Amino acid sequence: MSKSDKDGKPKNPEAIRKDEATSPETARLTIGENTYDLPIRKATMGPDVIDIQNLYRRSGYFTFDPGYTSTASCESQITFIDGEKGILLYRGYPIEQLAEYGDYLETCYLLLYGDLPTQAERQRFDNEITRHTMVHEQMRTFFQGFRRDAHPMAIMVAVVGALSAFYHDSTDINDPQQREVATRRMIAKIPTLAAMAYKYSLGQPFVYPRNDLDYASNFLHMCFSVPAEEYKVNPVLARAMDRIFILHADHEQNASTSTVRLAGSSGANPFACIAAGIASLWGPAHGGANEAALNMLEEIGTPENIPKYIARAKDKNDPFRLMGFGHRVYKNYDPRARIMQRTAQEVLAEVGDPNDPLLEVARQLEQVALNDEYFIERKLYPNIDFYSGITLRALGFPTSMFTVLFALARTVGWIAHWREMIADPKRKIGRPRQLYTGPVMRDYVPMSRRGTGLGEGIHNQD
Ligand code: CMC
Repeated sequence: MSKSDKDGKPKNPEAIRKDEATSPETARLTIGENTYDLPIRKATMGPDVIDIQNLYRRSGYFTFDPGYTSTASCESQITFIDGEKGILLYRGYPIEQLAEYGDYLETCYLLLYGDLPTQAERQRFDNEITRHTMVHEQMRTFFQGFRRDAHPMAIMVAVVGALSAFYHDSTDINDPQQREVATRRMIAKIPTLAAMAYKYSLGQPFVYPRNDLDYASNFLHMCFSVPAEEYKVNPVLARAMDRIFILHADHEQNASTSTVRLAGSSGANPFACIAAGIASLWGPAHGGANEAALNMLEEIGTPENIPKYIARAKDKNDPFRLMGFGHRVYKNYDPRARIMQRTAQEVLAEVGDPNDPLLEVARQLEQVALNDEYFIERKLYPNIDFYSGITLRALGFPTSMFTVLFALARTVGWIAHWREMIADPKRKIGRPRQLYTGPVMRDYVPMSRRGTGLGEGIHNQD
């Protein structure tokens, strides 16, 4: 395939549809005798795309891209990543500026509505979120059905999905007002549910939200206070928590966001879609990496063990990978990792040990990897999860809660993408195709002709 020059003559003019032939820029695909001019759609930033929507109808061919490494699955105006340069923008604003000067609720507003709020808009949004923080009282009973040692992510998948059983009046996806109510409910209630999952695992009473606290402080209050004594939220920790939420708020078409879009493309209700996103996030290649990264650092234990683990990461016969390293999109330092590293230092200076041996292991591991040919060649750099585990542990969370915190923060990104998709009048159900390499059509074989023992099935007949 090659980009055609605008006036270039196609080999087979019949193969070109009129509208595509008049597209200002096209890519030309030649298959045998036939040539297809495919429209190129312009991005405001980043790679343009070759629009292949009509390719199958015209040529009878599918395209093949199992991990979506060259495929834009949708058009979006929410988040931009330049993986080569290590740039992350939410609605055009650099993540560094939002983390430094903004806060999480403002970031939520920005992701959902496209612009930073005015003072009045901000006040109204804050009020609306604050007034939805409690969950239906019956949900307390729902929690009792789980084992106390259930992984909190398992609980989150279930209770977020169950919101659709509690809030029927905001599940009609075709009603913009109901979409709005569902949006606010989810952003407001997810910290309450996450804190309940944590408290349940400890066997402690659930703590009701406090509407006078900001979003991050309220979450820390629900996680760490107990009825027996007063709990004062440490503002340094609350600021760190808020920043962690900002860093995780969105990341364009990652696995969980794409899952939410795909689930939502069928018209499923928003609570069910977010539950699907949480399930996808759970895996160690995605949101589960923060838990895996901390477990890895603990396993390494001391700097002397680093070479052994680097060797394992490079060994193709060993499934071990350096957790918190590498990214599908970033082929440079993940910009969130830098901010996270600074946040880790701030939190450790406030509550933990600024000379935490794990921080030292992480720093040295990073240096060794960044200077190793294997990692340089493959452009493997620390990602957000490399330092987030250390930070979250210092904040007081057990490893099992790490991915839950990611899910809490990412909920707004999932909803923003879901809303964008639902509002698109050209929305279609997501339905990928496949390269089929299974058996060709064959006739049913009766049991009497399939052999009698193991290993002599129908393949051994005839
Ligand atoms: N340690 C060792 N080798 C690695 C690593 C790693 N962490 N990551 C990639 N590689 C190697 C991989 O073996 C392959 O080598 P080769 O070309 O010789 O076969 C090459 O680098 C390319 O890797 P890939 O698996 O084809 O890359 P991918 O884009 O499919 O995977 C990734 C991206 C994030 C799944 C992967 O880098 C990984 O498993 N990292 C560890 C898990 C992790 O930290 N995940 C968090 C991602 S950031 C948070 C989020 O967005 O969810």
